[in-house]
Formats: sequence, C-alpha cells, structure tokens
Amino acid sequence: MTSIAKGPSARDAKRLIHANPQQGWVDLVLKYGNSFGYQGGLATCDPEVIQTMLMQRSHTQHRSEGYKLMSRLIPGAPGVLFMEGEEWHKHVQAVMPVFTKSTVDSYAGRMHETVVSCLADWKPGDRLPDLFESITQVGLQVVLRIGYGLELSDPLTQQFGEILMTYKRQTMTTRARLDEFGFSIDQLRIIPAFLRERYELKKRIQGLNQVVSQIMQQRQQAGSKGQDWFNLLNKAGFSLPQITDELNHIYGAFNAIDYVITCGLVELSRRPEWAARIRNELNQVLEHRLYPTRADLAHLPDTTNFMKEVFRYYPVAAAVLRRTGEPLAAGKAYLPKNREVMILIQALHFHPDFWDNPASFDPDRWSHPLREPRAYIPFLTGPRQCIGRHLAELHFVITLNALLQRFNVRVLSGNLSILPYLIPRFAGPVAAQLTAHT
Ligand code: HEM
Repeated sequence: MTSIAKGPSARDAKRLIHANPQQGWVDLVLKYGNSFGYQGGLATCDPEVIQTMLMQRSHTQHRSEGYKLMSRLIPGAPGVLFMEGEEWHKHVQAVMPVFTKSTVDSYAGRMHETVVSCLADWKPGDRLPDLFESITQVGLQVVLRIGYGLELSDPLTQQFGEILMTYKRQTMTTRARLDEFGFSIDQLRIIPAFLRERYELKKRIQGLNQVVSQIMQQRQQAGSKGQDWFNLLNKAGFSLPQITDELNHIYGAFNAIDYVITCGLVELSRRPEWAARIRNELNQVLEHRLYPTRADLAHLPDTTNFMKEVFRYYPVAAAVLRRTGEPLAAGKAYLPKNREVMILIQALHFHPDFWDNPASFDPDRWSHPLREPRAYIPFLTGPRQCIGRHLAELHFVITLNALLQRFNVRVLSGNLSILPYLIPRFAGPVAAQLTAHT
C-alpha cells in the first residue's frame, strides 16, 4: 500500500481554481497527482478510487462531515442530499416514484406543452438580458406544473415559484458561498455577509412555509390525489416544515438542469453547424410529432452526443464529498476509516490521461468508444447517484427541441466566466439575442 502524496495548502489549491474554474482543477491534479492528501482527507480523480467510493456500500452509508456541516449552517432542515441511513431511505422512497424512467416518460407531453407556452412570450429579435434566468423561468414552470402538480395561473403558485427561485438565486450568487474547495483562514472574512444572508434565507423559508401550508389546504379541499411531490411527501407522513424543505431542496437540485441547458445553448451559439445538425436530426426522427421522449434518444445520435458532451464539459458539481466507512485501499490510495474524500469530477472530466483533447468541446468524441468509461460521472453512480437523471435528460431534449424549432439563440457575452465553487454557475448574466429560425 502506498501512502498518499501530500497535496497543496487550501490557499494554493484555490489560487489555481480561481485562476481558471474549469482547467484549474486539472492543473491541480497534474501538479499534485491524481490522488493527493488534502485537509486531513483525500482529493482524487483516480477512476478506481472513485468507483470504490461510489459503489462500495460501506462508503455510501455515511454522509460526509463537510456536507453535514454545510447543512447545519444553511437555514431549514437538510434535504435528501445531506441525509443518511433510515432518514435518507424514507425521503428517497417517498419521492422515487416520480423519478423512475417510465413515470418520467409519461411527463413528455405536458412538459413540451409547458415549455412551449413559456416560449410563446419569446419573440425573434428579443434581447434576453440573462439567458440563464430565462431558462430558469421555463424550468420553474415545469417544476411547478409537473413536479408539484400546481395550476400555473393560481396566484399562490406564482408566489410559491417566486420564493423558490429567489431562495435559489440568493444561495448561488451570494458572496458568502460555503462550497469552496476546502477551508482556508481567509474565508473567515465572509462571516458578516454570511450571517446577514442566513437571516434573509430564514425569512424566505418562513414565507415558503406559509405558502406551502395554504397550498396544502387548497389541495385537501380539492381532494388532490396525483403522484406529485406534494402528495407523495404528504402521504409518507412528513410534517409541513419537512415538506417545505424537501420541495425547496428538490427545486434546487432541478435548477442544475437549467444551468446545463444554458451551457448547451452557449455552445450551440458558438457552433451553428451543430444547431443545424440537431435540428435536422430531430425533424427527421420526429416527422409529424411535436416533441421527443427519452425513448427517441436511441435514434438521435447527434442530439445525444451533444447532450453527453455538455454534461462532460459542464458538470453541475465540480467536486462532491464522501466519507470512508472502512479503510480504503484502491489505486495508489490508502486511507483509514472516517476520512473525507473529495471526488474531483471536473478534473476527471478534463483529464488528458482519460480524454483526447479534453479542453475542446467536441460532441463527435462520443461516436467512438471511451478510453476510460469510468472517467464520465456527471450524475455519479451507485446508491447515492442523482435521482433526477431521467427527468433532467428529458427536460434537456424537450427544451432544446422546442427552442431550436423556433429560434436561433445567439449568446452576446464573449468570454463567460464560471464561479470557482464546488457548484459552479455563471459569474454574471449571459446576454443573448433571439433570431427567427427559417
Ligand atoms: C443535468 C442535470 C443534473 C445533474 C448533472 C445532476 C447531478 C447530480 C449529482 C452529481 C448528485 C450527487 C451529489 C452528491 O451526492 O454530492 C445529484 C444528487 C441529486 N440530484 Fe441531481 N443532477 C441533475 C439534475 C437533477 C434534477 C432535475 C433533479 C430533480 C428534480 C435532481 C435531484 C437530485 C437529488 C434529489 C439528489 C440527491 C440524491 C441523494 O443524495 O440521494 N437532480 N445530482
């Protein structure tokens, strides 16, 4: 067994990542090794170590201490992402019926209809001050109608949506972000901003609680029985604050796909030939149908290759945290029980050992077998992988299809910078212009 190479100080690591929030993660592992000691634990982009951490039961049963700390600092109860053991099982069991492949496919018609009705307000020539914000609005309507089973025209629904979105926006754009790569003393400077923001977020949660309670009453009076997130959590016996928190967390997780769709549109704006390829392919396969389903993906190689490349190039989590449940011996790493492991997804997805020209955005790479299939984990794998994957894929293709059938989207912002956090998002607005697709 080999001991782990000593890694950088948190300051040095963050300097590299802040200098370039995508390539910086690769620079880090090229400099310090694919697995290195970091803040008393391990940081790794070694596929063997990662597979072991994600698949072996002993390592998936306990949540990372880093996650637990974050969930204690964020107002509201922890969502499913932060849970472990029986509590996690109960929450996942409650919402899982919504996320299975077959259930997700049954949403396609209503999802398409909802996306199209949002796009009805978009006109050729329109300038969108922030494409991400516009795509998030579309995603929000999908969540409210399909996820939560709400009537979009109801003022209560609109109020609920507004608070969800503001909560999410605030946690992502704050200067007091907690999801830095490790802790360094200079982070203490964010404490005042953090305390202020925490107070505001607490008030938003109270607002959410009130709206959720009114919606629950309305639905009880109407005898609502659908398989939506409200009803499933209610049926599983969760209290009102628990339901509010979980709905808020699931919306937060859903927002990942809004980011990824926006990234896809940025790439299509840079590559009009790919927009044409995808549009033609969709037209040919759909013939007279208005929208694709997940079952169509097998017949849409260009669209699927494009989607996979967007997921590779723009992982929604640059790194995730895990904890060893027993001594870990994998690859060149040995680590005792109860140590934190940082899985460096962005570095894995960009590593020259595993990809040809990793820094180039090239959907055609997916036409060939992968050199290292374990180097692609946008949704992770194993018992704690993303539960929203099927929904995310469906929403991606349905939104792309609806948009490309109507518009060309030209992104006006030149170099888009991405925030250097574990959950990367755009550093500023993504200005865009719509033109008619002829
Ligand atoms: C492209 C879109 C998405 C990507 C790439 C993605 C990726 C991920 C990843 C990497 C995790 C694991 C985080 C960790 O354990 O540290 C995760 C967890 C999760 N995701 Fe997603 N996600 C996406 C969209 C969604 C959507 C649309 C939903 C649902 C509406 C969703 C719901 C969840 C939930 C509930 C978890 C926590 C699962 C658990 O801890 O058991 N995700 N996602």
